[in-house]
Amino acid sequence: MKRVIFSTLFLIVFAITTTRLIRFYNQKYHRGSSSSSSRLQLKHRPYQDIIINNKLIVRGHGPRCASRYNAIKSVLDKFKRPITVLDIGAASGYMAFRIAHDYPSTCVMVSDPSHEDISLKKLCKLNTSLDNVVLLSKRISAKELKLMSQREHFDVVLALNVLHHFPKKDWKEAAESILRLGDCIIIETPPVEDKRTCGQGNISGISEFIQKHDNTLIAKTRRHTSPNHFGKMYLIKGTKKVLNKLNLFDYSNIEYDIHCTFLNRFLVRRDANNSNMNAVPAKSLNRLMFPKGISLITFKMLNGAYPTKNMIKESIAKVIYSKGSVLLPENIIIQGRDIALFDDSTISNNGRPKDSLQFVYNVIDADDAGKVFSVCKRMADDCAIQKAITS
Ligand SMILES: C[S@@+](CC[C@H](N)C(=O)[O-])C[C@H]1O[C@@H](n2cnc3c(N)ncnc32)[C@H](O)[C@@H]1O
Repeated sequence: MKRVIFSTLFLIVFAITTTRLIRFYNQKYHRGSSSSSSRLQLKHRPYQDIIINNKLIVRGHGPRCASRYNAIKSVLDKFKRPITVLDIGAASGYMAFRIAHDYPSTCVMVSDPSHEDISLKKLCKLNTSLDNVVLLSKRISAKELKLMSQREHFDVVLALNVLHHFPKKDWKEAAESILRLGDCIIIETPPVEDKRTCGQGNISGISEFIQKHDNTLIAKTRRHTSPNHFGKMYLIKGTKKVLNKLNLFDYSNIEYDIHCTFLNRFLVRRDANNSNMNAVPAKSLNRLMFPKGISLITFKMLNGAYPTKNMIKESIAKVIYSKGSVLLPENIIIQGRDIALFDDSTISNNGRPKDSLQFVYNVIDADDAGKVFSVCKRMADDCAIQKAITS
């Protein structure tokens, strides 16, 4: 009898403890909808929190995302207009998805597909409430960041805990290009005392690099790899002033000065050989609208994976039928699920071939940077021939 009572009690205690442990685990790591988290089929706990439609699904093991986001928000709140944000090394897209939800914006993520806890493209699709996210699915090199800095302008650039992952010989070139990508550059880096984080060889150099620039410390976050130490997040003023390679094959000397405040963002076209811009009275400046987003060419050259090819073609169809606009690979801006047109009449009047829409489709269908390059080259050659015939 005693044995039966003992075994029954033991079973009850065992059942209660197990249930409590499971509940504790779920609360700590899988807060939110358990059906959503099981749908994700995660093999291990991710680095960043995973959010879908602004709900926390799984808590990550890296430095706390929510408090770091609040620090970034203090910068974003200054803008009173639509913004373009770049998140380099976006992990599970936590920062970009939250910004895309909270602000009128286009959030461009760069993510290395071979090191993702979960496919970021899949997360873009699952975040059905967002129509303003863009994914470049590649491990970006310092050289590619430099090319990107010649063609694109971002209001805010996030390089959070990513610079130390670049090869030792490249991180400095990457850091310098990052400063040329936009206006508000936010760099987060592990402290030199954290001896368990990777990229040890780069960390002291990165800290020195940051200290050489005009910086403001905006957050300190406990390291997951060394809980007694804190990673630091800095806001640095970017050095971006000019766009000079909107086009892959532009033989003209056209450059665009970027005029950018928290209220406004527009471009002014000028001849690169005419450095005497101050002589042009402000009233006569030829302002060009500069929509949020990134160019189709940059998107394709850097393995743009979201929006998908079909989504882009659908948005192009909407624009053609609604506005009857001229479409060229270099004037299409990807904003997420929609596109916008960068309307510089000099681009459209530049002896473009009549079948330019077919070129646009060829660029969208090109599967790698080499093919995008050759389609654009063919188009540039056709333009040159057409110009020669008409002149
Ligand atoms: C330590 S995690 C930081 C994630 C996120 N930025 C954060 O702070 O929460 C570094 C991330 O950057 C990615 N990464 C590293 N080097 C990269 C590169 N050159 N291009 C794109 N992603 C990169 C890694 O795959 C990883 O997702």
